[in-house]
Amino acid sequence: MSAGAVHLRRLFFALWPDEALRSALHRETRARVRHCGGKPVPAANLHLTLAFLGNVPDERLDAVRTAAGALGAPRLLLTLDRYGWFDAAQVLWIGCSESPAPLRQLAAELGHLMAEVAGLNTDLRPFHPHVTLARKVRNPPELRPPRPVEWPVSGFALVESVTDPAGAKYEVLENFGASA
Ligand code: 2AM
Repeated sequence: MSAGAVHLRRLFFALWPDEALRSALHRETRARVRHCGGKPVPAANLHLTLAFLGNVPDERLDAVRTAAGALGAPRLLLTLDRYGWFDAAQVLWIGCSESPAPLRQLAAELGHLMAEVAGLNTDLRPFHPHVTLARKVRNPPELRPPRPVEWPVSGFALVESVTDPAGAKYEVLENFGASA
């Protein structure tokens, strides 16, 4: 890196499943994913984004961590009970028909805090809690509801997305509260 170059990290806050939940998510959705015609997201990458920060200069990382650490840990039960398809992004996802108020609040607080404390503009799209299951899903997939997957949430994570020729790699930089 040349002198004075700013090192950027592609960051987001997410609910990060523990191993048991990751397996359950994968198991319950794999048949539908197989039939959607898209590219499955590897089980190790499954997560639910709360706030997307984009490219963050290294020097802001401490402010980001400190601000997030000041938020209370969420305690809620998330029920993933519906499939959806974003036609513009061409992704198949699993999400909830009722998004719990504490989750919407956490996502909003993270967005506000990042703008206020770290000077970062998070994505302004409305918050649609979802776990992306497959990408490049070009045609409307079968969206019959899944058997619900229950996700007891007690924390959230700051995650870095590392570009890798083999596909996106995610690294949890810090857990806030207990991990899910
Ligand atoms: P997606 O799964 O719906 O594509 C890491 O890339 C995570 O951040 C993914 O969960 C991705 O959502 C989300 N993400 C990527 N770019 C984004 C953007 N511009 N706005 C909001 N979320 C984004």
